[in-house]
This record gives sequence, structure tokens and C-alpha cells, in this order.
Amino acid sequence: MKRSPLSPWKTLQDLEPALLSGTVVALRADFNVPLGRGRVSDSARIESTIPTIDHLVAAGARVVILSHLGRPEGRVRPEFTLRPVADCLDGLVEAPVAFLPHIGGDAVRDAVAGLAQGSVLLLENTRYLAGETAGDPGLAADWARWADHFVLDAFGTAHRAHASTAGLPHAVRLKGGEAVAGFLVAQELDVLGGVLDDPGRPFVGVIGGAKISGKIDVIAALLARVDVLLIGGAMANTFLLAMGLQTGASLVEAERAEVARRILEAAGSRLVLPVDCVVAASLTAGVETRSVDRSAVTAEDVIGDVGPVTAALFGSYLAGAGTVVWNGPVGAFEIDAFASGTRAVALSAAAAAEAGAKVIVGGGDSVAAVRSAGVAARITHVSTGGGASLDLLAGKALPGLEALSERSPAGNPRR
Ligand code: 3PG
Repeated sequence: MKRSPLSPWKTLQDLEPALLSGTVVALRADFNVPLGRGRVSDSARIESTIPTIDHLVAAGARVVILSHLGRPEGRVRPEFTLRPVADCLDGLVEAPVAFLPHIGGDAVRDAVAGLAQGSVLLLENTRYLAGETAGDPGLAADWARWADHFVLDAFGTAHRAHASTAGLPHAVRLKGGEAVAGFLVAQELDVLGGVLDDPGRPFVGVIGGAKISGKIDVIAALLARVDVLLIGGAMANTFLLAMGLQTGASLVEAERAEVARRILEAAGSRLVLPVDCVVAASLTAGVETRSVDRSAVTAEDVIGDVGPVTAALFGSYLAGAGTVVWNGPVGAFEIDAFASGTRAVALSAAAAAEAGAKVIVGGGDSVAAVRSAGVAARITHVSTGGGASLDLLAGKALPGLEALSERSPAGNPRR
């Protein structure tokens, strides 16, 4: 059996609570949550980190939380403040939660110095600083000035080599501290590692979504693991283009068409594309739609969803699966007229889980889709990571994990 990706890394479980008592623990969480009218509109990601926060508080640590929210691109943009997250967190954690509207420098150091044992401080958005996404070691060192230990619970961001995910744990370890996985990361790795080690067959992947850049490369790696890969969403358009089909005014990555063509050639029947599509003049609410064969898309059409024949075809693959990994909606499901395909996949995935398949759904949009279809509770594992779970399943190293302290080969935790 292959080694689970969890095995090399220390987790919070490996640290004696006494080691944490009185120390400052920098906790990298992924509080990249949806906001509406200045409030958190879906707190699932925040809730998933509560066991880790509670454990640190109970151990008497002084907990300083870092997170990003959205992509403010290195500038202070008020719509991306983490203040609403602090309000939400305050109602979920027993300990007092304070919010600091700063993210670096002496303001943070001074606030941390005044932090009581067993209390929680949430800092402002890490991505207000350009050094975060650039992975600036100077920024990581600034944070490491006040941090004794580091805990990574931001599974959804573990695939980013940023200052707070990869630089800070490295800097903390350099000064002799521990950098370990939190309970959420440990749980995600346990489930996803199990799929990597020993997937029930047939192993069916479903990939969709509008964020296509980067995913085509992941597809090639995933094809080495799965038995069948079903592709929908904007991602499928690039493959249809590579087959010489008309994709009209749809979202495509024309510069990746050649890569897509090579993937198609190598995968043969293991890669399944939509055979029909829902098209319209634009992807807007209330627009008139048509379901057409994929060969009947015109130059004026925009593809917004997979058609009913494809939904049934995808359903037949899911019905016989032993393992299902689904990442990304197969249409523009946020618009009712283009939601049927994704809803059908959600229902088929839930039915597969009930028939005994291990079904893992990852990525904010697909998770939202299983929730809106009312089937989230029937899914085996709803992952907090989209890109991160995909990269992990494709066998890529995640920079956030690579920076953590390792266990000794004999299984005895060591620094
Ligand atoms: C996510 O929501 O997928 C994570 O928080 C990572 O966000 P990012 O894609 O902006 O890095």
C-alpha cells in the first residue's frame, strides 16, 4: 500500500498540550468565505476550524489567526476585510475573540504581546500585503517574531506557496518552534489520502468549473489515477474546441487547445466530454436557452451547461462507481437556466454514495451545488479544499504541507 500523504507530517495531536501552554500559536486558517451585506453568509469553513481553535484555547495557548479573504491583490480594499469573520467567530468560540485591523509590523507585535492566555486574536486580511502572495520571506519573518509555534488548518489554501502558508511555518521552525497540521487538515488528508492509497473501483472523476486556468494540467495527472474522467463546465469547451467543434462565444482557453488535444488522444475513452449542451446568446438570467447536440453549436452561441443527454450519461458512470471525486459545477449553475446539469450531477453523486461509493466533493461551487440540491448530508466527504484537494489527488506536493515539521521515520514525532 502506498504511504498516505499525512504520514510524514506532525499534527496537533502529536504535541503535548503543556508545550502549547502560554505560547503564541500562529494559526493559518482559510476564512475565505462568502459575505453578503457585511456578514458571513456561509460559515461552514469557519466552523470546520473550531475544533482546532478550541483545542489551542483549552491548552492555554495565545491564539493569533491569519487568513486571506478574496483576492485584494496587495491593497487594502474594505470589501475584503475580515471583520465580519471575527463577528462570526466570536459566536462560535467559547474564548474571547478580538479583531485587529492590521496585518503586519509593530501594531501586530504589540497586540500579540498584550494577548492573554486562552484568548483569540484575528488579524486583518493577509492579502492586503503584496508580500503574501509573492511568498516574501521578509513578511514571514515579521510574523515569526511573535509566533512560538505554527498550526496549518487552511486546507483550502495549502496548495499556495504564500508567506502565511509556506513562509511562516518555515520561519517558525528556524527559530525552534513546531509547525504542525491542525485537526481540519489532518482530517482532510486522512480522507483524501485514503482515496489515493486504495480507491474503490471504478474510480470516477468529475471536473468542471469556470476557473479553467491551471486545471488542464491537473487533468493529465488525474487521468493516471482515475478509471474515467467526466468533464463539464467551461473546461469542457477547450476540449470541444480541440476536437474541431464550434464553441461559439463560449469561454475557452484557445492557447491550451493543443494540450487538450494531446490529453484527448492519450486518454481515449477514459475521458468523457459533453455530447449535448445548453446554449444561449449570453450567460444571463432570464435568457432564452436551447439544448443542442455538441455538433450544432453556432458561432453566436455561448455554452452554459451540459445538456440532458450528457447529464444522464454522467449519471450512468456515477451509478456504477466505487469512488467519485467531484470538483467544479458542470454549468453556470448560479443562473437557474444553466443549473440543471450540475443539479443532476449532485443528485447522481448522492445516489452513488447511498449505493456504497465513497463520494468526495470539493471546491466552493460544487459544495454550494450539493447544498442547494439538499444532498450535502448524503455525500461521504465534503472537502473544504477545491484547488488543494484536486492538486493533492493529482499527486502534486502542497507547499503548505511541505513546510510543516515531519515525524521521524519510526513514527516518533520529532522536530
Ligand atoms: C479557495 O477558496 O479555494 C481558497 O481559499 C484559495 O483561494 P485562492 O484560489 O484565491 O488562492
